[in-house]
Order: sequence, then structure tokens, then C-alpha cells
Amino acid sequence: MSRVRFTPLTVMALLLLALSSAVRSCPPSELAALLAFKSALKDSDDGVFTSWTGTDCCSKWYGVACDRNSRRVAEISLRAGPIYTTFEKPYRPSYMTGQISPEICKLTGLSSLIITDWKGISGEIPRCVSSLSFLRIVDLTGNRISGTLPADIGRLRQLTLLSAADNLIAGEIPPSLSRLTGLMHIDLRNNRISGPIPQDLGRLQMLSRILLSGNQLSGPIPASICRIYRLVDLDLSQNHLTGPIPEALGRMAVLSTLKLDTNKFSGMIPPRLLGSGISELNLSHNMLEGNIPDSFGASCYFTILDLSYNDLKGPLPKSMSSASYIGYLDFSHNHLCGPIPTSYSNTDATSFAYNDCLCGKPLKPC
Ligand SMILES: *[C@@H]1O[C@H](CO)[C@@H](O)[C@H](O)[C@H]1NC(C)=O
Repeated sequence: MSRVRFTPLTVMALLLLALSSAVRSCPPSELAALLAFKSALKDSDDGVFTSWTGTDCCSKWYGVACDRNSRRVAEISLRAGPIYTTFEKPYRPSYMTGQISPEICKLTGLSSLIITDWKGISGEIPRCVSSLSFLRIVDLTGNRISGTLPADIGRLRQLTLLSAADNLIAGEIPPSLSRLTGLMHIDLRNNRISGPIPQDLGRLQMLSRILLSGNQLSGPIPASICRIYRLVDLDLSQNHLTGPIPEALGRMAVLSTLKLDTNKFSGMIPPRLLGSGISELNLSHNMLEGNIPDSFGASCYFTILDLSYNDLKGPLPKSMSSASYIGYLDFSHNHLCGPIPTSYSNTDATSFAYNDCLCGKPLKPC
């Protein structure tokens, strides 16, 4: 049996060993993936990547966060725009070009991917992101991302937030999206997405916001949407949607914002819609016809009620006087006719302008 001899050499070796474990480092494969991600993007010289040096990506790298125990990368969060601190001037360069490298798919512990408002980041969403099974948050708002959404996005079973608003994404909403049963927010506004809204989107019972405005979606509103119990905010405006407005939208428990403006919806306004809990209702620029339903009640509280630019006709409903509040009202550009209820005599005349024969204050006497 040989005894350990503390020669100067062994002491040195032990010291080095102690030191190297103190200088912490990311797993080499994660470090390599992050560096590849960085090199596919072009940031300014004083941009966010100046902090991405050394081998410990978990401690001082801006926008990178690791899991405490595994020390694997859990979050990439690069948001452009000013930061507000008490001491420094709110300044941060907020323009980046380049692409999102598929190498991020090697960060298999990733749960948040947030790359927002860099304006110049282009290319596609790497197909392989749908293999990142721990992803909970994907937010790519405000870039120039093109291509389609990954067809197998439905594999991301942990996903709660999907946002890719203000990009150049085309193609259809992948049908597999309806398998993301934990999804709470979906925001794909202002892209070039076409085709129908998936028929069974209503399976996503955790959804509270569906924001799809400013695309080229066509076809009807799927009836299943009306069964999403938690839905608060539904924005389908500025698309090519057709068909009637489902009556069941007026029976939803917590729906408070409904924007269907600038589409091709036809038929009558469902009476229930006016007597519901909706406080912001925009149906303007459609092809809605018939009378404005006489279904206002004391529970009506509208911050916005915009029915302008349709084919509505007939008199204003008597029950309008019983609404408890209508903040912004626009009935202009229809074919309405008859007296304006006196309780609306202080409303701006533009709210009633361009109809066939509405009369009384604020318009000319009957
Ligand atoms: C309603 O929608 C129209 C058309 O999209 C828009 O111009 C208008 O500003 C909206 N109304 C309100 C009050 O936001």
C-alpha cells in the first residue's frame, strides 16, 4: 500500500482541480448550441450579445437562464426595446438581423423561447422546435419571420403561450394546434395566415385569448369556439371570414372583447350578443343586415359598440335607452331610419351619420 505523498506537484494538481470546479461552465453541447444561435444573428457592437462571453452561459449571459439543478438552459429571453432602470438612461439597441438557428433545438431543456421586437430577424421558425417537449412559452412577436408554422406544433404539449404576431408568417394554421390542450394565449395577429380556423379549436379549454386579426383567414367561425369557457378576448378582425355570427357567442361566460370587424360576415346580429357581458363589440365593416336587435338591458355596459359600415336597417331599438353605459357608439354608414332616443341626444352626430333617415338630436329634427 502506497501512501499519498504531498509533493509540490500533487498540491498543485489538487489546487487546480478545486479551481476548475469553481469556474462553472455550461454543458459543452449547450454552450456550443448557444454560440451557434448567436452567430446566426447579427447584433450591433454594443448589443445584447456583448455579455455572451466565457464558458458559463448560466451566470452573466444576458437573456439566458438555466435550471438550478441540472444547469441546463431553460430560457432564452431577448426582448428588444428600452429597459427602464433608475440609474441608467433607458437605452438598448433594438435592431437585429439574421435568423433563428435550428441549433437551439439542441437545448432540449428549453421551456421559454422569447425573441421579440428585433424587427429585422427573418427566416423560418426552425421546424425542429416542435421536438422541444418542455417548451411552455414561445414568443417571437415583432420580427420578419416568414414561412409557415411547424405542422407538428401539436407535439408541444406543455405550451401555454404561442405568440408570433407582427411577422410575415404564411400558410394555414396547422390542424395539430388543436392538440395543445394547455394553451392559454394564442396571438398570431398581423401575419399572412390563410385558410380556415381549425374546426376543433374549441378543444382548447384553457384558452382565454384568441387573437388572429390582420390575416387572410377565410370560412366561418367554428361553433366549437363558443364552448371555450374561459375565453375573454376574441379578435378575428381584418380577415376574410364569412357566414353568420354564431348566436352562442352571446352566451359565453366571460367573453368581454369581441372584434369581428372588417370581414364578410352576413345575416343578422344575434340578439343575445347585445344583452351579454361583452363590453367591447366591434362588428363594423361587414355585411350584416336586418334590424339592430331590441335586446339591450340594464346589464349592458359597452365601452365600445361599433356597428358602422353594415347594411342594418329599421328604427333604433327602444331598449337602447335602458343600457347602463355606452362609451363609444358608432352606428354610422347603415340604412337606419327613425328617431334617436333622447338619452342619446348628447352623443356625437358622427355616431349616427350616413344613414337613411335617422332624426332628432344630435341630428336634425324629425
Ligand atoms: C372597429 O373596426 C374598424 C374597422 O376595422 C376600425 O376602423 C374602428 O376603429 C374600430 N372601432 C373602434 C372603436 O375601435
